[in-house]
Amino acid sequence: MARVFVSRAVSGAALDQLRGAHDVIVWEGAAPPGPADLRAALAEADGLLCMLSDRIDSDLLDAAPKLRAVANYAVGSDNIDLKATRARGIAVGTTPGVLTEATADLAFSLLLAAARRIPEAAAAVRAGAWRVYEPARWLGVECAGATLGIVGFGRIGQAVARRAEGFSMKVLATRQTPLEELLERSDFVSLHCPLTPETHHLIDAAALARMQPTAILINTARGAVVDQPALIAALHAGTIAGAALDVTDPEPPASDDPLLSAPNLLIAPHIGSATRTTRARMTELAVANLLAALDGQPMPHPAT
Ligand code: DGY
Repeated sequence: MARVFVSRAVSGAALDQLRGAHDVIVWEGAAPPGPADLRAALAEADGLLCMLSDRIDSDLLDAAPKLRAVANYAVGSDNIDLKATRARGIAVGTTPGVLTEATADLAFSLLLAAARRIPEAAAAVRAGAWRVYEPARWLGVECAGATLGIVGFGRIGQAVARRAEGFSMKVLATRQTPLEELLERSDFVSLHCPLTPETHHLIDAAALARMQPTAILINTARGAVVDQPALIAALHAGTIAGAALDVTDPEPPASDDPLLSAPNLLIAPHIGSATRTTRARMTELAVANLLAALDGQPMPHPAT
């Protein structure tokens, strides 16, 4: 029986399967374990089920001599130093595929909410500002006929494109259209690329300057794909019309982060995969990865 540390309470019945096979310790704190907590928890652990908010680097791995398997509760693996895990022969897995539709739904919800100014309008109603039908107020952007630029045309990007078709939008994707052209031609730009050294700050001041002043940026990928100070400046300057983010850098932003007071910005608390169905399936995949690796088998969903 191996010892497995689970860094946050996750939903779904699959954890019981893991408990049936191994000695499982779940971190029950409301806040995630800090680096010192993780080090202590991993001192004797053979397996780890971790979140994208846990940084798994060589310092931590040095303090985890028995660790053989890491199951990331995410489709990405940018929080894990894969070179360091490979060097130590530690298997790493992710949860691909199962969160595609939920994340695409959220991206499209953000697009619609930003286009039609729903958060602002709803807040005005609650503040008692809805006194009369307003023919010239709360005007937003029409989606039908608009151009949606999709940066990163993998599973989630393609799922967003399918939704856009239903809204009669024209879709440009980085697979066929150079990024510069896509930024210049799009009314909405939605980010779906993984965070890698190549995509870090892909959307910087120069990229934002290429976008139309009426355009809206949507990010459900990773916060660091966008140069956040450049985005804040662009929103204040009106270089772009607005942005809707499910991810920020860092997460969450500090209470005095200038991001929180930037105009025309909607921020969700990283809820792309947050449906009951998807989160339960993510638990199933993470557990399957751990069960396989702790049994000496290849993980069914290895990080690539
Ligand atoms: C992922 O898996 O990368 C998501 O962001 C988690 O919600």
